[in-house]
Amino acid sequence: MPHPEDRPRRLRATERLRDLVAECEPPGAGKLLYPLFVREGRGERRLIASMPGHAQLSVDVLCDEARAARDEGVAGVLLFGIPATKDPTGSSGRSEDGIVPRALRALAEKAPDLVLAADVCLCEYTDHGHCGALDERGDVDNDSTLGLLAEAAVAYARAGAHLVAPSDMMDGRVGAIRAALDRAGLPRTAIMSYSAKYASSFYGPFREAAGSTPRSGDRRGYQMDPRNAREAEREARLDDEEGADILMVKPGLAYLDVLARVRAATRKPVAVFSVSGEVALVEAAAEKGWIDRRRAILEIATAFRRAGADLVITYWAREIARWEG
Ligand code: PBG
Ligand code: ZN
Repeated sequence: MPHPEDRPRRLRATERLRDLVAECEPPGAGKLLYPLFVREGRGERRLIASMPGHAQLSVDVLCDEARAARDEGVAGVLLFGIPATKDPTGSSGRSEDGIVPRALRALAEKAPDLVLAADVCLCEYTDHGHCGALDERGDVDNDSTLGLLAEAAVAYARAGAHLVAPSDMMDGRVGAIRAALDRAGLPRTAIMSYSAKYASSFYGPFREAAGSTPRSGDRRGYQMDPRNAREAEREARLDDEEGADILMVKPGLAYLDVLARVRAATRKPVAVFSVSGEVALVEAAAEKGWIDRRRAILEIATAFRRAGADLVITYWAREIARWEG
């Protein structure tokens, strides 16, 4: 029998040895952002059927949830708004009195040490459900959408967002938002751009949660094609050059190669968004007893770090924070 010289098993012999040589760790609480859905009302916690444990929260309940997450060490929250009214250009999404600005002002007061991030997109606020304004043919019009996104970003920054996070995938939106923030005297508000956001089946539960399913058509005319990874590097470079402060890849689990490539393509912090459909996969399998829920969640979170994510946006933020500290 040949005697192998190199024996990787030597360093797997005990837990202390394994810990000593581990190449990365699951993200600690301070690396986590927690996505939350905010709606009108008081005392409201409307459960989302396809996202067990998650709900649309009114501002008061949202503040309690955010403070609980903060007390567990979670770095911050990423807000999605569910507005009272919708129209063709999503005007409720850029009003200073809209649901997200009101939530931001309440959080800034009630949980001042949290990082406050706000998703910037039109789809929750438009009656047609697309991420931009439509032209006369019914197509999403890139350039007339830029000013609408910039206005929303300025409203959220004024209300206290530290990070504005455009998720629309229009060309040039990072530059437009950066210019508008600077013009409004908000040079310190950072942009966390959804740089490589794919047209993914894994957003299904989110669209139920946010009521943002397009009334007709789909998002493949603006979100990325799942077959493309080189293009993700190009998108990341554009956002980098336009002034994004953090570059994000989304979804996470099916796009770890993209995450690694974006990591290699920029010197800026890279985020990954573990989306609603990833929650659905794990929760459904765990409920059936087919996988170990905690081990699965930590394994996925570890994979994000291994692939190069600096920070992780995850619906499991509170649990990971409790498990990992
Ligand atoms: C809105 C937006 C979506 C998600 C984040 N921002 C949905 C979409 O593009 O359809 C997905 C989040 C998730 O699935 O958890 N543009
Ligand atoms: Zn959108």
